Amino acid sequence: MQVIRPVDLGPIAAPLVITGAASGIGRAVAVLAAAHGVPLALLDRDGRAVGALAQELANAHGTPAVGLGADVADEGAVDAAFAAAAERLGPPRGLVTSAGIDRGGAAHELRADDFDEVIAVNLRGTFLACRAALRHMREAGGGAVVCVSSPLGFVGVPGGAGAYSASKGGVSAFVRTLAVDYGADGIRVNALLPGATETPLMWASVAEADVPAMRAQVGREVPLGRLADPSEPARAALWLLSDQASYVTGAQIACDGGVLAKASISV
Ligand SMILES: NC(=O)c1ccc[n+]([C@@H]2O[C@H](COP(=O)([O-])OP(=O)(O)OC[C@H]3O[C@@H](n4cnc5c(N)ncnc54)[C@H](O)[C@@H]3O)[C@@H](O)[C@H]2O)c1
Repeated sequence: MQVIRPVDLGPIAAPLVITGAASGIGRAVAVLAAAHGVPLALLDRDGRAVGALAQELANAHGTPAVGLGADVADEGAVDAAFAAAAERLGPPRGLVTSAGIDRGGAAHELRADDFDEVIAVNLRGTFLACRAALRHMREAGGGAVVCVSSPLGFVGVPGGAGAYSASKGGVSAFVRTLAVDYGADGIRVNALLPGATETPLMWASVAEADVPAMRAQVGREVPLGRLADPSEPARAALWLLSDQASYVTGAQIACDGGVLAKASISV
């Protein structure tokens, strides 16, 4: 396992629930948070993977960590997972919603079922996890939420990302409303907008043989000249969960290598 040297961020919202913790950005947040001693409830539809990760992190850092298998689009399963997390670790004071999927397709060809599935996981799943967490945080006297959104919630890119973009636009709008509604309860809610990040999701719709060329092409289009490692958005998430971000709420924090700052036409 990678050795991480903790930085002094002050108190971090804990216990912390992370959805989509089996892979990619969610997994990177879990690894980083465990290195900072944060008790963790790792939620994913791949229950076996989060169970193994929880065990690995608990062994490595001596922090409590539990893995919970649940589909974030399933209301009963999400509520049950949060109840189990609260029972094992105490009421959650931190939440990162990272579970997400993509189903590409030009709008005129996109199957309605695929559109619905993207909205169910990315937007309804965010709502269900936030709702469960907010109930605990209100009672506990505060907390911090980071919802993983995307630059594609704000700008269009060619290639049939309509369903995904719509879901992420919804997530970012939802975050703004939560920040306004729950500020008085001491709960901060922010959106994190990762750019192109080296995860399975990034290459899900690309043939394996085409990945190197696609990676090079995407890298050329990003102002920083490369894709992100999942640990980079994870560090931004941990900062948002920490007291260092004590006056940050309702923000859309881009960790995108400059993508949102760039117009695509050359003049
Ligand atoms: N990778 C990128 O370039 C990128 C860019 C911007 C935003 N994002 C967002 O970051 C988040 C994490 O994506 P990633 O790139 O780490 O992807 P990933 O595929 O590596 O990880 C996603 C995780 O979510 C889990 N998941 C999917 N559907 C689920 C469900 N219904 N219930 C529970 N768990 C479920 C998967 O099992 C997986 O472990 C997503 O919300 C994604 O939209 C990713």
